[in-house]
Amino acid sequence: MHTTVLYMKDSYLRATSATIAEIGTEGSTTTVVLDQTVMYAQGGGQPSDRGMIRGKNGLLSVSHVSYNGGAIKHLGKLTGELHVGETVEVEVDWNVRYRNMQMHTAGHIVDLAIKHVAPEATAVDGVHGIGKKLHIEYSTLIEPRLLQTIQKETTALIEKNLPIHLEMVTRQQLDEKRIPLPFDLPKNKELRIMSIGDSTPMPDGGTQLHTTGESWPIIVTDIVRNNGHTFVQYTMQEPVKNVLKQKDERAMSESSLNIDDLAQSIEREAQHDVKVLSADQFQTTYLAKKGKLSHLMDELKTVSLEEKKSAGQRANALKHTLEALLLTYDSQKKNSEVIDMTIPGIQPKVGHVHPISQAMHEITRIFEKIGFIRVRYPEVDWEWYPFDSLNMPKDHPARDEWETFLVQSDYVHPILGKMVLTPHTSNGQVREMQRLHSTPPIRMINIARCYRRQADVTHTEMFHQFEGLVVDKGITIQHLKGTIDHFAREFYGPHATSRIRPFHFQFTEPSFEVDFSCSICDGTGKLNGDKCRFCKSGWHEVGGAGMVHPNVLKAGGIDPEQYTGFAFGWGIERTYTLREGLKLDDIRLLYSGDMRFLEQF
Ligand code: DAH
Repeated sequence: MHTTVLYMKDSYLRATSATIAEIGTEGSTTTVVLDQTVMYAQGGGQPSDRGMIRGKNGLLSVSHVSYNGGAIKHLGKLTGELHVGETVEVEVDWNVRYRNMQMHTAGHIVDLAIKHVAPEATAVDGVHGIGKKLHIEYSTLIEPRLLQTIQKETTALIEKNLPIHLEMVTRQQLDEKRIPLPFDLPKNKELRIMSIGDSTPMPDGGTQLHTTGESWPIIVTDIVRNNGHTFVQYTMQEPVKNVLKQKDERAMSESSLNIDDLAQSIEREAQHDVKVLSADQFQTTYLAKKGKLSHLMDELKTVSLEEKKSAGQRANALKHTLEALLLTYDSQKKNSEVIDMTIPGIQPKVGHVHPISQAMHEITRIFEKIGFIRVRYPEVDWEWYPFDSLNMPKDHPARDEWETFLVQSDYVHPILGKMVLTPHTSNGQVREMQRLHSTPPIRMINIARCYRRQADVTHTEMFHQFEGLVVDKGITIQHLKGTIDHFAREFYGPHATSRIRPFHFQFTEPSFEVDFSCSICDGTGKLNGDKCRFCKSGWHEVGGAGMVHPNVLKAGGIDPEQYTGFAFGWGIERTYTLREGLKLDDIRLLYSGDMRFLEQF
């Protein structure tokens, strides 16, 4: 069975005669299939119509209409009797239909507005039903910041009052017109296409207004993105019923009466809307530039001179009422929050500087006091600075000790070599000599991030070092030892001291390893009669130091016959945790951003 759908050609047809083709029951519901109908069957995001089928001896009050492979089924409560073959009158509930039509056409208007603003947007679905959140779904991403522009374009389309064309076409005509099908549609049937103004037609089976100008105001409320899809939400406002009519019929003499009527009906609407709209929507509908109040203000211009005053007062009174209604949103919000004055206040959280940054500031201060300058050099540097300039020519095996990250690049500088993430702060030594044009005295402290291919409980790929360099005439190991002792006292406490042990580095000669006395047992190695469990020996090894190798001075353009220098360098993380008596099971905690840990420092 196939039912002819009359609303396809004319969405304004409210009633027709028809013949009953089938009658059935589903529980207490009666189902009727007709040869033709004016009622819209649910689909395409538009809800079903309601209405009545009236026979000679019976009446079906239709509450739902569904589409069953060509046959349209009217479902509802039957009073009396209806029979197959009987001629009946079919009438659609026009109020319901007209609202649905408004919402359906609105979807197409918003969609066209979006196509103007974001041409690549492809609509894939939509919900235009009453009581639901109206939206159109796009399989593309639309920028939420376009909302205002889409709103403007939507309003402009309504204001332009464009005709909405409906046309029945065959599949062949559709192909000829090159109309893209968003989804597969039956091949052998006539299809309906719709277009707004001269926009590209699209297949559509819903009911449509005659023109965009007939549309109620549309408010685009939100653009929500989810899983690569975009949902553009909108609402509609049924305008004050007689506004348009009044406008046409208005005679100058009656104008103040109309202002009164208009103000009254706006007020009545607002009293209702304040219960259902959000504060934003209320503001947009009534108080915004294109809202109902400003519409009324426009009307004032047409009022005769004598009546201007009272009309103006009426308009002002409406303004106050609307503003007062808007304020109720705030007070409602306030009233709904019960404030218990006896609850203790919430102390605002005050953050603090990260422990490693604290240590860096402190170290800088300690060295600045004795005439050092903190410098900063690149953390991504030519390998010449951390290696070649430090007496480690290319392919020198000592380089392997610093598990260095190389920057991937085809370019290799003929002298400076490749780019690396600096594996130690010693790259700053020759850079500082160059900065000072190879002219001592040099007293630098270089603090920076360093990077090595290492990650376990005692190492992180990124860590911090500080590097000292002093070059001048007559600099000896005593200066080195004195400087390190000064640091030990300032950083670890007045009893702290240092010790140096012979070692080997390429860039110093002689070279030392530096130990600091343990701050937990004051360097005694004993705690309460037992071995100090923190250091076991009274000392902690922290880093390296030595007298600057002549080749390094030469690399920096300084004459090693005239000048000597010392250098030292070690990790900030270790220096800091030793002072706090911290044995971190996992050094990575420092960079975890775990507030429970960080708040302790
Ligand atoms: N740069 C070395 C490292 O990272 C530490 C070091 C040792 C720095 C001796 C120095 C030094 O300045 O003289 O292992």
